[in-house]
Amino acid sequence: MALRNIREEGDALLLKKSRPVTDFDRRLHILIDDMRETLINADGVGLAAPQVGVLRRLVLVMDTSKEELTPEEQIIELINPEIIKTSGSQEGPEGCLSVPGVYGLVKRPDYVKVRAQDRHGKTFEVEGTGLTARCFCHEIDHLDGHLFTEISERILSEEELEEYSKKSE
Ligand code: NI
Repeated sequence: MALRNIREEGDALLLKKSRPVTDFDRRLHILIDDMRETLINADGVGLAAPQVGVLRRLVLVMDTSKEELTPEEQIIELINPEIIKTSGSQEGPEGCLSVPGVYGLVKRPDYVKVRAQDRHGKTFEVEGTGLTARCFCHEIDHLDGHLFTEISERILSEEELEEYSKKSE
């Protein structure tokens, strides 16, 4: 496994639409394993393939609600993911490994159900609420070339961000 370089805002590749994954081969598995390592190393909660320079529909989302699991075990691998159901709404701070140090207020559904394929091509469904739901939306947006800064109502100051983290404790 190897760490991959995370592209940052201003890189034109982040604004492109990713193509579906068609080959569930060793090359894909190496990419996924590298992305897993990169995500853990960056201490993030999600990572999309275009962020490491690969325009394919593949994302990792960490289900941080499963507190009994290790970070590595919390990672959900989603290939060719599609949001099939949403409900409710939440508003809160959102950040991105490609936009380091910046957090914006973003509205997202509070519940999201995703249909995707696993690394062997098998279709499955997964659901999440709160941060996990937010992360599903955020990562899948990356596959269509969208960053949270486009839909953020406003960027939060450090003081505001602190207030939010106090509230969630
Ligand atoms: Ni992101």
